[in-house]
This record gives sequence, C-alpha cells and structure tokens, in this order.
Amino acid sequence: MSGIRPTGFLHLGNYFGALRNYVRMQESYNCYFMVADLHALTTLKDTKELKGHVRRVLAENIASGLDPEKVAFYCQSHVPETAELYLLLNMLAYVGELEKTPTFKDKVRLQPMNVNAGLLTYPVLQAADILLHRATLVPVGKDQEQHLEMARNYANRFNQRYGEVFPEPYAFNFGEDLVKVPSLDGAGKMSKSENQLATLYLADDDDAIRKKISKAKTESGGAPGAPVPDSVANLFQLMRLVGGETAAYEAQFNEGTIRYGDMKKELAERMIAFITPIREKAEAIRNDEAYLRKVMDMGAEKARASAKVTLELAKEAIGLNYY
Ligand code: TRP
Repeated sequence: MSGIRPTGFLHLGNYFGALRNYVRMQESYNCYFMVADLHALTTLKDTKELKGHVRRVLAENIASGLDPEKVAFYCQSHVPETAELYLLLNMLAYVGELEKTPTFKDKVRLQPMNVNAGLLTYPVLQAADILLHRATLVPVGKDQEQHLEMARNYANRFNQRYGEVFPEPYAFNFGEDLVKVPSLDGAGKMSKSENQLATLYLADDDDAIRKKISKAKTESGGAPGAPVPDSVANLFQLMRLVGGETAAYEAQFNEGTIRYGDMKKELAERMIAFITPIREKAEAIRNDEAYLRKVMDMGAEKARASAKVTLELAKEAIGLNYY
C-alpha cells in the first residue's frame, strides 16, 4: 500500500523513486495505491486546483505503467472507511507524540497561520490508509520512515489494547537500489519544490527538455585524473537512467576532451524518447472522462471491499458490537 500526494506534475525523481517501484510490485503483490486527496487538505486552502491535480496524478501513474486492472488505484476520499479507522486510531495517538513529529514541526514553520488539527494528526490518517488494508509493505522514500514507525506504534497499541488485528507495516523498496535522480543544477535530487528548471517533468515537451538539459550545470574537471565533479557525474547518472552508455564520455572526461554540448544533445534526445510516450499517453488519459471515472470507481470498489473487512475486525475487537 502506498499513498501519492496529488501535487500535480510528477517528475523524473518520482518516476524512478516511487512509480517504478509500484509498477514492479503490481506483478507480485496485491497492491493498493491511493491518491491522498484528504491529506492534501492539510496544506491546501484553495481547492480549485484539486480536481486537475488528482486527474493528472492518476493519468501520469497509469501512463507510467501502473495497471488499474491489476491493482486497486483509488482516491482516498472515495473510501470513507479511511475516515472511520482514522477516528478509531486517534484514540491511540498521543498529542505529545504528534507534536514532536518532525514533519509537523516543519509545517508549523512553513504555515504558522494554518496549524490545523489535520496537520497534527496527518500521521494518524496515513496510518489509517495503511492499516485499512492490513498492509505490511509500504513503498515510500526515506522521508516517510517516521510516519511508518508511528503506524507500527498504532498497530501495536491497538493489538495490545483490544486484540490482534493489525500486522506491522514496513517501508519497502524493490531491490536494494535506491536510485538517486540528480537535479540538473548540480546540487541535490530532482524535486518539485526546488528549482523547476533543474527538474524534468513527465509533462515536459521536447523543447522544454532540450532547453533544461542544455542549461544543465557542468564543471571542468581540473587536473587530469581528478575526480569527476558532481555536476558531471549527475549527467552521467541521468544518461544511464534513460538507457545511455557513459563509458566513452567518462574516458573523454579523463582525457580532457569531453564536449559537454555533444553529450547534452545525446542526453536530451534520449530523455525525449523516454518521456514523450509517457506524456502523450497521460494526456490522452487525462482527457478521457469516461475512462478516468471507470478507473476511480473500480479502485474505490476494490479498496472498500478490503476496508470493510478490516473495520469489522477492528470494531469487533474494540467491542463496538452490540448485537
Ligand atoms: N505522506 C505521504 C507523502 O507525503 C503520502 C501518503 C499518504 C502515504 N498516505 C500514505 C504514503 C500511506 C504511504 C502510505 O508522500
């Protein structure tokens, strides 16, 4: 089980960090992937853009290989059982603990005028998402470790207090390789919030891709035999991610004969070949009202069937059964 925040445009970091993991998981597990629209409300005051964001996230995930026939791909708000389990878990979540959560403290700093209770209990809602399907494997990035630990705590507290219902969920990563998708500005990972010109989106058109890559940072290597600077290593890494060979460029780098313009041209063309089919497919899906509706309905139906069973078990264990 995993949740995807509907923040709009997915980028290459999302693709290699998360999406590709989901697509691999769907072949061997019973998967629930959810668009976290209720979580989005903790930070979003203006909800006009929500619909567009949700549809884009659905479309871009499907275009990248997520198969709504194989998995349950649904919107959080379409599964009201989530809210019910969230309420039950709130009785097991201590305010002191929630206040200490680093992601909460970050949000308090970022939006001091909107420190709502939903923000405080964000990890409880996330635990409800996961425990709703009694899921054990949760493909998420490192930044979600703390939330996963909290979900395990709530599961254990529930089991101790009321009786065994929930298994412990753990962060999951396919294979050991946590791929890093470097930013084009030579610093850090590709990420939505930072430099947009240094981030490649699955919705970028060919020109945007060429432009961004041509402006990517490169440094000269200094003395022969000196280590490859990060900015250049990053471009090699991107080249490999989209199926290119870097051995020849690395050799040229060591000899001091590398021509960055040529390498960037190849990288851009490979990137275009990689992104264009996804972008075109996502666009077609996004404009297909009937299909999107079918996907959401199908996903909600599967998720609710699983949720119903869990809630019955949970209520039974608590003693909310009077006849
Ligand atoms: N909090 C997650 C994020 O910021 C999104 C999320 C919501 C999630 N519910 C979840 C992730 C359940 C895993 C499982 O990316």
